[in-house]
Amino acid sequence: MQVRIAPSILSADFARLGAEVEELAADVDMIHVDVMDGHYVPNLTLGPPVVRSLRAATTTMLDCHLMITDPSVYAPQLLELGAESVTFHPEVEDDPLALVHRLHELGGRVGVAIKPAHELSLVTELLPHVDMLLVMTVEPGFGGQAFRADCVRKVREAVDWRTRMGAGFTIQVDGGIGPDTIEQAASAGADTFVAGSSVFGAADRVAAVRELRRRAVAAAALARTGER
Ligand code: DX5
Ligand code: ZN
Repeated sequence: MQVRIAPSILSADFARLGAEVEELAADVDMIHVDVMDGHYVPNLTLGPPVVRSLRAATTTMLDCHLMITDPSVYAPQLLELGAESVTFHPEVEDDPLALVHRLHELGGRVGVAIKPAHELSLVTELLPHVDMLLVMTVEPGFGGQAFRADCVRKVREAVDWRTRMGAGFTIQVDGGIGPDTIEQAASAGADTFVAGSSVFGAADRVAAVRELRRRAVAAAALARTGER
């Protein structure tokens, strides 16, 4: 399993976004871009113009997390602007599978997300078709919240389901990920780790990313040893 670290720019200084992303570029696998519309969640963040600017400022993969009620309108735009991956919350769409196919046709990687209140069963029909499952480990909307350890069970369920079905999606966790929580998620089988406040709030952000990776790699290796 490859560990991927995805700093969330929600906790970055938006006036210095290009520089803050570039500082991390050599040490991260993707940049997580939280798009919020004030409807799906009670917060407003950013959208296509910022993704366009980010695309011009970095070659690092842009992983957009759409916490919005109209992903079918904005997800295609974000791919056209150069984002590599878009993840949406499927319960807002009448036909989420059609949107998955449409986004693939545009050349994007596609993820679906489940909030703390949602069970894996919400997305099992979509999982054979997507590139990533996002298991939220906080209520979507804000950075800096405490990690919901009760959500880790769904990572394990997703790993089991993937094995049973022979599917290939990656598993991302998002919310409250830091040095004290990443090991739980990695042991359960998550491979992609979003971290906002624990990276951008650190005095040495590069060191913070490297420490997250070190802990996730070690926890994943230990979990595999335990399985043997
Ligand atoms: C929350 C966002 C997260 C957020 C995570 O709705 O989806 O990506 O930035 O922030 P931290 O890592 O601070 O919990
Ligand atoms: Zn997010």
